[in-house]
Amino acid sequence: MKTMVSGIKPTGQLHLGNYLGALKNFVTYQDDYHMIAFIANLHCITVYQDPKELQTYLKDCIALYLACGLDPDKATIFLQTDVLEHAQLGFILNCNTYLGELNRMTQYKDKVAKNEINLTGGIYTYPTLMAADILMYDADYVPVGDDQKQHVELTRDVAIRFNNRYGETFKVPEPIIPKTGARIMSLSDPSKKMSKSDESNKGCIYLLDDLKIVHKKIMSAVTDDKAQVKYDVHNQPGIANLMTIYASLTGKTMSEIEKEFEGQLYGNFKKAVSAVVCDELAMIQEKYRNIVESNIMDEVLLKGKQFASKKAQEKLDLVQKKIGIEIR
Ligand code: AMP
Ligand code: TRP
Repeated sequence: MKTMVSGIKPTGQLHLGNYLGALKNFVTYQDDYHMIAFIANLHCITVYQDPKELQTYLKDCIALYLACGLDPDKATIFLQTDVLEHAQLGFILNCNTYLGELNRMTQYKDKVAKNEINLTGGIYTYPTLMAADILMYDADYVPVGDDQKQHVELTRDVAIRFNNRYGETFKVPEPIIPKTGARIMSLSDPSKKMSKSDESNKGCIYLLDDLKIVHKKIMSAVTDDKAQVKYDVHNQPGIANLMTIYASLTGKTMSEIEKEFEGQLYGNFKKAVSAVVCDELAMIQEKYRNIVESNIMDEVLLKGKQFASKKAQEKLDLVQKKIGIEIR
């Protein structure tokens, strides 16, 4: 069975972009692949997090993994910090990555371009920790949203370089980007991606949002004056984004959606989008409440940790032998 590895940072409440770009796909893949899904809690501190809030997000993130349908009997679910080998392999891979490569990472470059203050060393070297997360488990595939593709490509380059230098050690993984939903945009500004750090809060649908609020956010989504439901990312980005959300949740194609809403007002289309989103979130939220009450999270994480630790110890041991830093 082929292996997939992916993670999500608990930097805030998970949102519809995380769900459609990543989590929903993990759930589909867990039947046919060994899905290793972890909570990237080291990655999240590359930007300062309030410790108290982080606790809430961490617990919600684990509960949401399960509520969205990840099954601990099929998938391996764990907390990144429960497997100490990640940080160590991360450092080793850091030493096999060039500054030029890190300088080219758009996520980092964007932050520099925006003149964000207090950028940390962590945010700069973050892709090498991500490479460790992936290469540790001999992943064949990495299912992620569009914004992470470049990091997976760097992971491939680092793996190939390491294998050339020290002999075959890592499997070279491939990114898997969903055809629909890889980049869900903000509802209030469709030129920006939907993100946990949405300042206005209007553009982002959180998975735990009250459904009335979800409806309101969708009904007030920014559109255009063209008055036609047509998939045209450049001229009608707001409508294209709503169509993407609708397509991801119904499985319909863009031309089917265009036909379905031909000659209809945007208000009708938005109502239909809101209905499918609210149905999906209602299901997730009900499961979420049951999971939080049932207290099964500790058990799930322990099981995941045991499995992942064994694999990680073996891989780190092999790596350290190859590079000669262990006394044998
Ligand atoms: P993050 O929240 O940055 O940890 O992202 C976790 C996963 O969700 C990654 O695979 C991202 O590519 C994906 N993701 C984040 N935001 C979006 C978005 N707006 N649209 C689609 N996928 C996203
Ligand atoms: N960097 C990813 C993000 O911001 C999260 C992540 C960390 C990840 N390690 C990973 C995703 C390994 C896939 C595989 O979304």
